[in-house]
Amino acid sequence: MARTKNWFPTLIYSAPLGAGVPALNRELIGDVARIRAADTAGRRWSKTGYPGGYTSYGSLDRLHRLSSSFADLQKRIDRHVKVYARALGWKPAPRLVMTDCWVNVMPQGCAHSFHLHPQSVISGTYYVRTPRGTPGLKFEDPRLSRFMAAPPRLAHLTYPARAGEVILFESWLRHEVPANPADRERVSISFNYHLGSL
Ligand code: NI
Repeated sequence: MARTKNWFPTLIYSAPLGAGVPALNRELIGDVARIRAADTAGRRWSKTGYPGGYTSYGSLDRLHRLSSSFADLQKRIDRHVKVYARALGWKPAPRLVMTDCWVNVMPQGCAHSFHLHPQSVISGTYYVRTPRGTPGLKFEDPRLSRFMAAPPRLAHLTYPARAGEVILFESWLRHEVPANPADRERVSISFNYHLGSL
């Protein structure tokens, strides 16, 4: 009997974070403003590493250890990561630990070109502020470089960025954020999970 099966799938997870998001996002926005104002090294780093915007990626990349609102966010994201890891079918279930957590502030025109997160297992983003017209998260088919003479097909897809939602993906999956056309700042928090010791 002929049978065609789907192997090597790419799984992307998205969900609302959970209850209490408006209060949490207000706290996060306040903390982000304070962190940005104090983070001279990060603002300098962003000039070349994140032109036009501000990220704490190059300076304060463990915000879940620095701020209680980020620590609260980490606990909530941990639960989503567990669900996602189960869907990925890893057995036995690995212990996954948030190692890096940083904030990204994108004003109009700021973009983040295609990249992946080579040292980690699961990566993702949580959206704090997404003005109307803000760009989503664009993923690339990981087989793209191998399509060769294959007929054209969908090679990219975009998840809309919605405040209060979390998106998770395996860290090897390339992604980008196209330039922000909105005239207000888009604020997101990105993170990486590594395998923890048992
Ligand atoms: Ni990324």
